[in-house]
Amino acid sequence: MLDQKTIDIIKSTVPVLEKHGEAITTRFYQLMFGNHPELLNIFNHANQKQGRQQKALAGTVYAAAQYIDNLEAIIPVVKQIAHKHRSLGIKPEHYPIVGKHLLLAIKDVLGDAATDEIIEAWGKAYGVIADAFISVEAQMYEEASNQKGGWDGFRQFVIDNKVKESEVITSFYLKPKDGGELATFLPGQYISIKLEIEGEEFTHIRQYSLSDSPGKEYYRISVKREAGTPNPDGMVSNYLHDSVKEGDFLKVSAPAGDFVLHTEKNTPVVLLSGGVGLTPMLSMLKTVVEIQPERKVTFIHAAANGNVHALREEVEALSSHGNVSSFVFYDSPTEEDRENNRFDVEGYVTLEWLKNNVPVKDADFYFCGPVPFMKAINRSLKQLGVSEDRINFEFFGPMGNLEEEKQRELVTN
Ligand SMILES: Cc1cc2nc3c(=O)[nH]c(=O)nc-3n(C[C@H](O)[C@H](O)[C@H](O)COP(=O)(O)OP(=O)(O)OC[C@H]3O[C@@H](n4cnc5c(N)ncnc54)[C@H](O)[C@@H]3O)c2cc1C
Ligand code: HEM
Repeated sequence: MLDQKTIDIIKSTVPVLEKHGEAITTRFYQLMFGNHPELLNIFNHANQKQGRQQKALAGTVYAAAQYIDNLEAIIPVVKQIAHKHRSLGIKPEHYPIVGKHLLLAIKDVLGDAATDEIIEAWGKAYGVIADAFISVEAQMYEEASNQKGGWDGFRQFVIDNKVKESEVITSFYLKPKDGGELATFLPGQYISIKLEIEGEEFTHIRQYSLSDSPGKEYYRISVKREAGTPNPDGMVSNYLHDSVKEGDFLKVSAPAGDFVLHTEKNTPVVLLSGGVGLTPMLSMLKTVVEIQPERKVTFIHAAANGNVHALREEVEALSSHGNVSSFVFYDSPTEEDRENNRFDVEGYVTLEWLKNNVPVKDADFYFCGPVPFMKAINRSLKQLGVSEDRINFEFFGPMGNLEEEKQRELVTN
């Protein structure tokens, strides 16, 4: 437990650090990667270049510090980050490295304003925050490896099948190379894939949502090729599309993540996806049909057009189930899409449409897609009076901040 004086110093300096937040964390990464280049095997370099991870870590440390005398209150958010840390293989021994370089960076950026007393207080506070993460993560590591078919760290999987699903999305069916049992997962969860790419100095780790329902003898991921123009093409997605073949091996973490379908509920469920955000939603749809066939589900998918619309047949097959209603939105349909009646609505998913077509009053909502799609859906749902506890979403990138409220701002602003 921290003494009152330390708590007071922390609380009074949070605004100062927040003000210099990005400068401090940019300096922090420079110093840390300079002294520990091996950590570049874990961090996503593209996120670094775009400053996304900087914001995530900065925001989180400062926001956590505001709760320093009541860390219990932020455990749900710690858990969400801890899921990702666990899937990446972050270990207790990594925390002092981050702590040391964060303090060095604070000192560097603030100069004399960062007195010994302030630095000492932040050292203590970081220790308390780190301990909260370490203990939540320890439990997650234990659960991941002790579950039936579970494992620790990364396990070798063989690519059993590679299937092109659209012009931009390809599925990979993964089976354990050791032929052993496969841990189950909750619909909505993801795995981390660790790649060693020839000619690349460091390994690259990325998350991919499991796109099939649990209980199969394989995991399936469906990956969109991220074209970069004018930026560099996405490293891992292009490598998976172009260079990884059936029979190749991939290193895979045990499933993780807290964006999961609540199957203990029986309320109507509305699943909305844009583009490759389809993957966790399809896993949820399949699961509802398989284990909660009496539950009403509305599946709404938005894509540019039929050329990039993945896994259409799979959703169509499920749509014949009595309790499933499915809607396809194209914003730029092709002539062929029109001739073959491949979509239900032309344009975007609007508030008006939702109001007239989904059970707004009592449904639980899950959504995933590009940020503008998520912003629009979130705003519509709020305007329609859907309470926060019925709204669930997943970002396919680092979540920006610790506080729930601020996370919401990411999609509302
Ligand atoms: C929980 C979760 C689940 C996910 N599920 C899926 C899924 O089911 N399917 C899926 O396809 N993806 C999914 N993703 C996204 C996935 O993890 C990767 O982020 C995605 O495949 C892109 O990785 P990449 O290595 O190809 O691109 P990266 O190399 O990481 O690049 C990312 C983006 O940054 C741009 N970029 C790269 N370098 C620079 C630079 N120097 N300057 C500016 N821009 C740059 C690239 O053009 C690209 O658009 C998920 C992510 C998360 C967090
Ligand atoms: C108390 C200390 C820490 C805090 C507050 C913190 C916070 C965060 C946050 C908010 C995210 C984004 C989560 C998301 O995507 O939803 C994240 C991701 C990540 N963290 Fe931490 N973290 C801490 C410690 C560490 C340590 C010790 C390491 C390893 C050295 C680490 C490595 C990573 C990596 C590699 C990612 C994913 C980054 C990416 O994809 O760019 N973190 N962390």
